Amino acid sequence: MNHFNYQDNIFHCEDVDIREIAKEIGTPFYLYSKATLTHHFKTFDQAFSVPHITCFATKACSNIAILNLFASLGGGADIVSGGELFRALKAGIDPQKIVYSGVGKSRDELRFGLESQILMFNVESQQELLALQDVAAEMGVQAPVSFRVNPDVDPKTHAYISTGLAKNKFGIPIGDALEAYQQAAALANITVQGVSCHIGSQLTDVSPFVESLQKVKNFISTLQHTGIAIKYLDLGGGLGINYEDEEPPVPAQYAQALEAELKDLDCTLILEPGRVIVGNAGILVTKVLYTKQGGKKFTIVDAGMNDLARPSLYGAYHAILPVEDRGQGIETGDVVGPICETGDFLSRDKTMPASQSDDLLAIMSAGAYGFTMSSNYNSRPRVAEVLGDGETFHVIRQRETYEMLIAGEKIP
Ligand code: LLP
Repeated sequence: MNHFNYQDNIFHCEDVDIREIAKEIGTPFYLYSKATLTHHFKTFDQAFSVPHITCFATKACSNIAILNLFASLGGGADIVSGGELFRALKAGIDPQKIVYSGVGKSRDELRFGLESQILMFNVESQQELLALQDVAAEMGVQAPVSFRVNPDVDPKTHAYISTGLAKNKFGIPIGDALEAYQQAAALANITVQGVSCHIGSQLTDVSPFVESLQKVKNFISTLQHTGIAIKYLDLGGGLGINYEDEEPPVPAQYAQALEAELKDLDCTLILEPGRVIVGNAGILVTKVLYTKQGGKKFTIVDAGMNDLARPSLYGAYHAILPVEDRGQGIETGDVVGPICETGDFLSRDKTMPASQSDDLLAIMSAGAYGFTMSSNYNSRPRVAEVLGDGETFHVIRQRETYEMLIAGEKIP
């Protein structure tokens, strides 16, 4: 359920006429619905009845206004960099609800996490463990640790976003993890707190989640037999959404399937959802610049692959809707951006609203991994981000200016 809808044939975000936003701030822009973000967060969080913390995966959508909204709903953050930690803290997220994932945390980043007293580091290698021990010893503190174990489970998703197979770079093979925990337990400045895993993103079936949970559960009982107690079980994120015709489980089904496996485990659950909360709570609004007929119909818009990378990078589908529905009908063709690459498309060989210059289009399901993966390629200023809220809207990130493009550059 989301709050993007037509009112008298004009596409609205909640009760805001999207044409009004475009008139005021220009295009393109990302537009999120506060009511949808809130509804998705609560639906996910309340689906779980066991003690848990919902640590939103910051990488999916990292604007501090949105992180602050989740903080106000009791949410924490899953972070993967010092930059994300900085954002999460600025947004008012309780450090004791922050978990730090990622295969390549630098020593400076480890120090920043320790200084901030985050809940735990999801350590992904023995070398990282030793670096963390070192930094914690220098600071005279204890580092709370969980190992991210790699359960070798096929999440059946796009190869680029599968993370839980043995051939993926993530985590410690579950078969080697006992040794890693024993090593950690013997280190003076490491406190073992949990076990974590994350097998991939945009999963549309619960069975890979259940399969990996079963493997992790067996591993936790092995740990307990060796006297290593676990306080937190972090199951990562990965629940998929509907972009086109997928039928992913809803959060209640996902929670039920996981909780059925958790009965005799005495741990606090940590969840790291990203896409399922923000994906369908955000759109990208773009304007048609020109149309032309080449080998096929091209609709050239003012947003490009630098603004929304998913179609170019993964061949991802994003539905496209007209902001003004004039009954213009549909046509087949490509929606392309101004970037000088053939791979710069938002939609390829798909039906789309028949459009003409100056029409506004809504690129749907763009709230997750949309703005956060955008870049300045072709020296294009990154677009504005806007939060719709009832009858009003707030610019939560201003459009970049040309001056901002070269800030920090210098001719020697
Ligand atoms: N936790 C960890 C450790 C992760 O690596 C990720 C996503 C998540 C949680 C959140 O996963 P989600 O609930 O959003 O599926 N750029 C790609 C997705 C990359 C996902 C990377 N990791 C895309 O646009 O589809």
